[in-house]
Amino acid sequence: MVKRFKIWVYREGEAPMVHNGPMKHIYSMEGQFIDEMESGKSPFLAQNPDVAHAFFLPISVAYIVEYIYLPITTYHRGRLVRIFKDYVTVVANKYPFWNRSRGCDHFMVSCHDWAPQVTRDDPELYENLIRVMCNANTSEGFQPRRDATLPELNCPPLKLTPACHGLAPDQRKIFASFAGGAHGNIREILLKHWKEKDDEIQVHEYLPEDQDYTKMMGQSKFCLCPSGYEVASPRVAESIFAGCVPVIISDHYSLPFSDVLDWSQFSVQIPVEKIPEIKTILRGISYNKYLKMQNRVKKVQRHFVLNRPAKPFDVLHMVLHSVWLRRLNIRVPY
Ligand SMILES: *[C@@H]1O[C@H](CO)[C@@H](O)[C@H](O)[C@H]1NC(C)=O
Ligand SMILES: *[C@@H]1O[C@H](CO)[C@@H](O)[C@H](O)[C@H]1NC(C)=O
Repeated sequence: MVKRFKIWVYREGEAPMVHNGPMKHIYSMEGQFIDEMESGKSPFLAQNPDVAHAFFLPISVAYIVEYIYLPITTYHRGRLVRIFKDYVTVVANKYPFWNRSRGCDHFMVSCHDWAPQVTRDDPELYENLIRVMCNANTSEGFQPRRDATLPELNCPPLKLTPACHGLAPDQRKIFASFAGGAHGNIREILLKHWKEKDDEIQVHEYLPEDQDYTKMMGQSKFCLCPSGYEVASPRVAESIFAGCVPVIISDHYSLPFSDVLDWSQFSVQIPVEKIPEIKTILRGISYNKYLKMQNRVKKVQRHFVLNRPAKPFDVLHMVLHSVWLRRLNIRVPY
């Protein structure tokens, strides 16, 4: 892939909403990806559109929301939908590439919760567009064969992902842990059943002052990763960086890179209706099996690490690989 895959990045449009995106906090993957493709240094960049296998629309849903909706007085998504469609229409009118493939070799990348709605009003226009999104909820129109999941990473300002850390498996004194706000239904159910009720399943809404969130993950065998307001949570990657086996509590979440990563080998997936059974399920995993899973967590860490510029097998290359696979799977109707 690294030698062959070539991407044309449209020059159309102006900053801040195009060629730009948030580089920090929970939407950082959107800006980091756009920035990498705009850096001019990526080996994936096509010198001209004629040699490109895929076409990138470098427009940022998160920045449209940030610049158009500030201060947020309305949650009406109409303007967002229109700005995005304007961009696609301009590109389709000016250049031959969108029409000749009906968009199936074009992709967009967004980590914003509202990204799936951008294509909502015009299913026909966007029928083939590859949408790479954090909000990969299959019950809201995310199609795992066509679309790809962007992992959510919470990058601190001016920094990339944290170094991998965490104790050796036999030093991890906390069986399972979670700390986080009651964002969304799933977390409410989790807190209702488990908040400060059990020594082994340690669930906190607010972490006690003397405890550190990151450190606690490095001391836990299992880290609970419930969906928040939307399916994706940066906790999944944080858990992996901490060498903690992620326990993914969600429904309809298409996990990142599942074309190539078998999540059942290094994570536990618990549907929302089984939240009351978390302890039984985790206790049912033998220590031997846990050790194997933990070892595999360490092996997949590099696929979630953000490097700039990107490096082989890191998170940006994995995202590009997801696009590459989807591009290979289609026959462009020239
Ligand atoms: C692409 O198709 C649209 C809609 O049919 C049309 O308006 C546009 O001119 C076409 N673009 C090109 C470059 O021919
Ligand atoms: C996924 O989509 C369904 C259907 O719209 C919705 O009910 C559910 O809350 C979504 N999941 C999350 C975690 O937001």
